[in-house]
Amino acid sequence: MNKQKVIQLIFSPTGTTKKIADEICKGICEKFTTIDLYFEIEKQTIESNVLIIAAIPVYGGRVPHIAVERIMKLNTAGNQAVAIVVYGNRAYDDALLELKDTLDMIGCKVIAGGAFVAEHSMIREIAAGRPDRNDIETAFNFGKKIADKLNCNDTKEITVPGNSGYKDKKPANGMTPKTNKACIACGKCAKVCPVGAILADDPKKLPKIVLAV
Ligand SMILES: Cc1cc2nc3c(=O)[nH]c(=O)nc-3n(C[C@H](O)[C@H](O)[C@H](O)COP(=O)(O)O)c2cc1C
Repeated sequence: MNKQKVIQLIFSPTGTTKKIADEICKGICEKFTTIDLYFEIEKQTIESNVLIIAAIPVYGGRVPHIAVERIMKLNTAGNQAVAIVVYGNRAYDDALLELKDTLDMIGCKVIAGGAFVAEHSMIREIAAGRPDRNDIETAFNFGKKIADKLNCNDTKEITVPGNSGYKDKKPANGMTPKTNKACIACGKCAKVCPVGAILADDPKKLPKIVLAV
């Protein structure tokens, strides 16, 4: 039985990446902890006996820049890691490679990786309702396979698909936050928006910001 501790490194604004990462972690072990990259994190060093499960959603075929910035605040000593990207059934393009490279840069050795489909958080009709029961089962079984790999000491570094120049980031033209009649301008959304896309003093005003995610 593998005795490594597991830390989940997660960025999941609408929760689907977290659902999949939770199942993978449950397939590996009973208990795990979480570093939530949705919020700002301090610079920190991860203990060397920790397996890192890094899971992020795909934005424009890439890793959201804010997730890269926050992962880069971590320091590891050759920790084994798993790279997971979750995408809205268009394509994950270079995101898995970019995530692996980012984990390499903080000193990890990536021993497994995967791309999972989930509901598209901007166009909810795409892959609606996913991850479904099958996806959850696949994620859990993937976690079990990782545990088996570790038990057999099979810790070879993997290669993953993607182009090393990475896909160009395009501004998310025309994509602005939108309120409806239920908005009471409490400002909660502005506080939690990870990219500062909402005006705290008046969330109803739609700023003409153009974000390259
Ligand atoms: C700004 C933005 C860009 C996205 N770009 C892609 C993409 O390039 N390919 C894709 O298949 N899905 C894309 N998606 C969909 C997300 O990857 C998908 O919905 C993911 O499951 C969201 O994860 P979360 O629920 O953890 O936030 C994008 C979503 C957003 C918000």
